[in-house]
Amino acid sequence: MALRQIRTEGDEILRKPSREITKINHNVKILVEDMLETMEHANGVGLAAPQVGILKRVVVINVGEGPLVLINPEIVETQGEQINLEGCLSVPGKAGEVNRPTYVKVKAQNIEDDMFFVEGTELLAIALCHEIDHLDGQLFIDIAESIEEE
Ligand code: CO
Repeated sequence: MALRQIRTEGDEILRKPSREITKINHNVKILVEDMLETMEHANGVGLAAPQVGILKRVVVINVGEGPLVLINPEIVETQGEQINLEGCLSVPGKAGEVNRPTYVKVKAQNIEDDMFFVEGTELLAIALCHEIDHLDGQLFIDIAESIEEE
């Protein structure tokens, strides 16, 4: 496993759409392991592949309940609204209030290529939305109602 460099705002790769994973091969498994290690090292709750310069639809999340790996994640249901302060490893020094659903249901594949659903509320709902936005080149600062510089 290896730490990967986290790209920051201004890096064009963060603005590009990521491609679907069609085959979960060795490279994808290495990418996932490296992303988990990089997220943990940076004390992040989530990381998307474009943040380490790879335009593939892979997300890792850990809101304190253990690591979650999502390949080709898709939001299939949302409910409610919550406004919370968000930050991002790719946008250091900034935080912003973002409106997100209170409940999200996501369909994805795991590293064994099995399809599964994950349901999230509170912080997990936010993390799921935030990380999936990265796969479409969107950052929280694009949709934040206000931005604070730290
Ligand atoms: Co982020």
